[in-house]
Amino acid sequence: MRCLLTLLSLSLVVTISLQECPPGWRASDVIPNKCYYVIAQRKIWFDANAYCRNSQPNALLTSISSAFENYNVDAIATSTPNASACDQFWIGGNDFNANGQFAWVDGSPWQYTNWALGQPDLTQNCVSSSALKTRQWKTEDCGDGNCFICEMYMGGSTSLPTTTMSSTTTTPTASSTNMTECKDWLAHGAHTDGIYSINPDGRGSFNVFCDMTTDGGGWTVFQRRINGDLSFYDKSWYDYKVGFNNGLENNLWLGNDHIHLLSTKNSNVELRIDLWGDRATGSLSSNNSNGYWWEQRSNFYIDDEANFYKLHLSPLFTGNASSPGYGISFSNGKNFSTFDENHGAAALCFSPDQLGGWWLGSCGEAALNGKYTPTFWISGFFWCINDHICINPNQSRMMLRSLV
Ligand SMILES: *[C@@H]1O[C@H](CO)[C@@H](O)[C@H](O)[C@H]1NC(C)=O
Ligand SMILES: *[C@@H]1O[C@H](CO)[C@@H](O)[C@H](O)[C@H]1NC(C)=O
Ligand SMILES: *[C@@H]1O[C@H](CO)[C@@H](O)[C@H](O)[C@H]1NC(C)=O
Ligand SMILES: *[C@@H]1O[C@H](CO)[C@@H](O)[C@H](O)[C@H]1NC(C)=O
Ligand SMILES: *[C@@H]1O[C@H](CO)[C@@H](O)[C@H](O)[C@H]1NC(C)=O
Ligand SMILES: *[C@@H]1O[C@H](CO)[C@@H](O)[C@H](O)[C@H]1NC(C)=O
Repeated sequence: MRCLLTLLSLSLVVTISLQECPPGWRASDVIPNKCYYVIAQRKIWFDANAYCRNSQPNALLTSISSAFENYNVDAIATSTPNASACDQFWIGGNDFNANGQFAWVDGSPWQYTNWALGQPDLTQNCVSSSALKTRQWKTEDCGDGNCFICEMYMGGSTSLPTTTMSSTTTTPTASSTNMTECKDWLAHGAHTDGIYSINPDGRGSFNVFCDMTTDGGGWTVFQRRINGDLSFYDKSWYDYKVGFNNGLENNLWLGNDHIHLLSTKNSNVELRIDLWGDRATGSLSSNNSNGYWWEQRSNFYIDDEANFYKLHLSPLFTGNASSPGYGISFSNGKNFSTFDENHGAAALCFSPDQLGGWWLGSCGEAALNGKYTPTFWISGFFWCINDHICINPNQSRMMLRSLV
């Protein structure tokens, strides 16, 4: 028995010594076949992960699965030339999927953490380590520039659970500077819903929430209501222009300038609307508090601010949320209006109807930015499916995806 054990451990040593890390990479003292690479250059989280992926097959921002590994990774960072100028290092942790539910980008289980006091800050989504100092972790804005630590496994992909962003054949320059919308991230192998950085016109990146699962994924979410925590109906023209949210994964308006840019950079863009739950009561209500409705249209775009963000849509649609003339159909060709800048809306749309910023005339057959709980039903946050059913949804989502 003793002999067998010795043999086993001998063969383990032999295996490790055969699996040498590539030049510049450092072998893990804790996990057989795992190598790390500390990069003393500042990049945003997405670009850092893409840099890892492009450097070696199966490489990603590192996961850290134990206190031993945390210690090991930080020792390697400490002994890396140039890294002394780095304060924080990006590692692979993030909560893109659901706020507060952290995960590793390589798909390994989230089993060990070393949060600093007061962390994680759930208003941020990407995890960094203060490797050279306390070895503790915190969340930061994914768009911050940090040094970073890549991982890879020697001897094929067997040790690496493949999910989401790791499961790609990497394209050489998968950097957020090249991603113009969520569909581009999808094309580069991102299959997880969450927050990504995009740069639609090459003039600067911003973060968006990408739906990578609905109807093939690749959707850039530009409107979401999940509850009444953030008021929409009393937001100004300027608020709608630049956008507002209480977390990109929560209640969200991406901003009319962004929506204009994203809906006009390609010649044909799809619009998808999803609605959940009817809170309305009375003769027009669906009596379906757990209902789900959706629709999808092509040729969606909104004009620029000089043209009052006028709405354009194909009259044809798929899905069960609408009938012609109802829902968002009514808004086709209307200007955007807010309580403080009216471009063709009847005054009563704002008070008493509380419809908020939307493409309004006299007034609308839907207003997904209306007051969450309106003063009277079939006003505020509402949507008419046809001439006899109008709902006050419990949740809504609007998103776009280029067709060409
Ligand atoms: C250290 O930093 C300098 C200047 O940024 C760079 O030229 C050099 O390649 C770096 N060395 C290493 C080992 O990263
Ligand atoms: C991505 O952007 C970089 C510059 O930011 C450029 O050099 C590279 O060619 C681009 N790659 C693709 C595939 O467009
Ligand atoms: C929305 O509907 C869900 C499921 O019916 C329910 O749990 C939730 O409380 C509702 N939220 C609001 C704000 O009405
Ligand atoms: C919902 O219930 C009301 C009665 O409370 C009724 O008048 C209405 O027709 C019902 N709606 C549907 C779609 O059945
Ligand atoms: C609308 O369609 C979806 C999927 O096609 C379905 O799950 C949903 O129940 C439908 N809604 C209603 C109210 O019939
Ligand atoms: C859009 O707004 C402009 C300026 O307020 C107005 O001249 C034009 O008639 C409006 N268009 C529609 C369709 O209401």
